[in-house]
Amino acid sequence: MTAKARRGAPRPATLIPGDGIGPEVIDAAVQVMAAAGGRIAWDVQPAGKEAFEKMGTAIPEALLASIRRTRVGLKGPLETQIGRTGYRSVNVALRKTFDLFANVRPIRSHPGVRTAFSGVDLVVVRENTEDLYSGIEHTIAPGVVESVKVITARASRRIARFAFDLARRERRHKVVAIHKANIMKLSDGLFLACAQQVAKRHPRIHYGELIVDNACMQLVLRPQEFDVLLLENLYGDIVSDLCAGLVGGLGLVPGANLGARHAIFEAVHGTAPDIAGKNKANPLAAVLSGAMLLRHVGQRRAADRIERAVSRLLRERRHRTCDLGGTAATSAVTERLIALL
Ligand code: NAI
Repeated sequence: MTAKARRGAPRPATLIPGDGIGPEVIDAAVQVMAAAGGRIAWDVQPAGKEAFEKMGTAIPEALLASIRRTRVGLKGPLETQIGRTGYRSVNVALRKTFDLFANVRPIRSHPGVRTAFSGVDLVVVRENTEDLYSGIEHTIAPGVVESVKVITARASRRIARFAFDLARRERRHKVVAIHKANIMKLSDGLFLACAQQVAKRHPRIHYGELIVDNACMQLVLRPQEFDVLLLENLYGDIVSDLCAGLVGGLGLVPGANLGARHAIFEAVHGTAPDIAGKNKANPLAAVLSGAMLLRHVGQRRAADRIERAVSRLLRERRHRTCDLGGTAATSAVTERLIALL
């Protein structure tokens, strides 16, 4: 048997290029993953604006069927239309359809990237299926609208268990639940009560709570003191961008949307319309999301190789995109990364 046959067939996965800078950074990720020895058979599926324009729907059935089949995807950012017009958020729909209840965003300082802090190493764990993202909104009377924040014990317990399990698995010591239960006594109160119940079953992991506004201040004063952050959907969305800023910005932070059966990996950043199509986007967040995917499907060595190459590239300080103060093109960063593998 040849070495290739022993390694087995490539793992099928769905590839969603996305809108804006999506196709540029996803192309970089795919190239780097292959060069690192990742064995993935991509099923490319449009979604979002591209799909809407070509097929009249932002979430084609073929895309859903592909994810059902492969159970794992790498996704570029998708444009979300603002206000009343346009289609509903594809991101929210995918998370709900596949019950991708946990959004995980590792936030790490990179030696070589100058920021206000060094030594930041925390993980944002965000509940991904409910809260103000319920999509339930109505006009009560002219000039008065209501958006419904849904918090359930089931989803709150599930995400708290996930956060503590992640802390145990990654040998982390502290989980901090972030909330606004002083104002939203019922909804955030329920979220906290569930986190407290789960915390009791993990006596070796320190459990703390912070009100979200105070948490933001503490994060920009002493980010090194945080370990695992446990948040509802909206606070998680906002706080993870703040955390990205602590380590050099959105161009560097990968993410995963995880459910019991399916997983979709994607950078934290959006479509960056201001630099789309200009070969200027930082591909590293998408590349690191690709590394998370490889680790998820058991291709750990390829994932480690990618992460080491990203560290070396950043330490070299030569190939930097505009978000990191450089002038390098997306394609130049990708080529250098491949050379470093
Ligand atoms: P954004 O993340 O697209 O951009 C914010 C700023 O960061 C911009 O100045 C942009 O140029 C910069 N930036 C982002 N990623 C970068 C990269 N890889 N390299 C260099 N610079 C980068 O956020 P914004 O402007 O709020 O959203 C634009 C669109 O993206 C909206 O339609 C929004 O709904 C969507 N979006 C989609 C997400 C997803 O699909 N997961 C996540 C966040 C936003």
